[in-house]
Amino acid sequence: MTGLDRWAAAEAGGDGVRESSQAWVELAADYERGRAREDSLDRLVEWPAERDMLGDVSGRSILDLGCGTGGKLAELARDGAVASAGVDIAGNFISSPPVGVELIRGDLLDPGALPELSGRTFDRILFLQSFGYAVDPVRTLRSAQAMLKPDGFILLTRTQPIRYAVERAEQHGTTLGEEYFHRADYTYRAGWNENIKLTKRTYTMSDLLNVFSAAGLWIESASEPQLTPEAARRYPHKQAWMNKHLGILIFKLRPLAPF
Ligand SMILES: C[S@@+](CC[C@H](N)C(=O)[O-])C[C@H]1O[C@@H](n2cnc3c(N)ncnc32)[C@H](O)[C@@H]1O
Repeated sequence: MTGLDRWAAAEAGGDGVRESSQAWVELAADYERGRAREDSLDRLVEWPAERDMLGDVSGRSILDLGCGTGGKLAELARDGAVASAGVDIAGNFISSPPVGVELIRGDLLDPGALPELSGRTFDRILFLQSFGYAVDPVRTLRSAQAMLKPDGFILLTRTQPIRYAVERAEQHGTTLGEEYFHRADYTYRAGWNENIKLTKRTYTMSDLLNVFSAAGLWIESASEPQLTPEAARRYPHKQAWMNKHLGILIFKLRPLAPF
């Protein structure tokens, strides 16, 4: 079975992914509380790395898919982004978004089909730790790609698939390899609220890369951000977590030029 066939087969298990999207309605506030902590990996590692790969945003329009509260988008607007929009299924948005930021409650499955986004195009499209909730990932990326302005790019982050394999190997008393290549969906308790369970379709690196190819995208650059030495000294428990689980992957994706 190729990586793409596996994604297609995983469609049958798409219900778990869909339920996880709904679970976010309950989880949203806990996630934001966790993210706001001074030792959150989003603050220490993810957002600085995402911000770095985005570069200068002045005069750029941004679409943030799975935007959470819209707080990151508001920060980008303060840095000069214009005519931007965020979409999130939870609808737990900041109360007064800055001028030029529209926050829309909706599903990121087919962003081009959302009435509020009809006919709109963007310089940057973001999937920051939200792509795993796309029930049909290739469809979602194709739809997003069609909304890119010329010379625009997609910034997409995903958790290292090794992280889930490590957790499952510990739980099941199995090996990393067995779990990394195991195909069943993975249900786990959300770190931000132990009472809420999330389901993720398991994936390998090749699955992820094949999805980008199938959507007609190429990887301009990728990175695996880590704590700075100073942050590692200050928050040794976070360095210990990173040493075991590796962190996230960040991809800058562009449409393939037509031949
Ligand atoms: C891990 S949080 C990331 C939030 C934000 N992008 C960030 O980087 O802080 C995942 C977000 O995806 C949203 N989400 C989950 N399923 C979704 C769906 N089907 N459509 C739109 N948003 C979804 C959740 O509500 C949540 O805000």
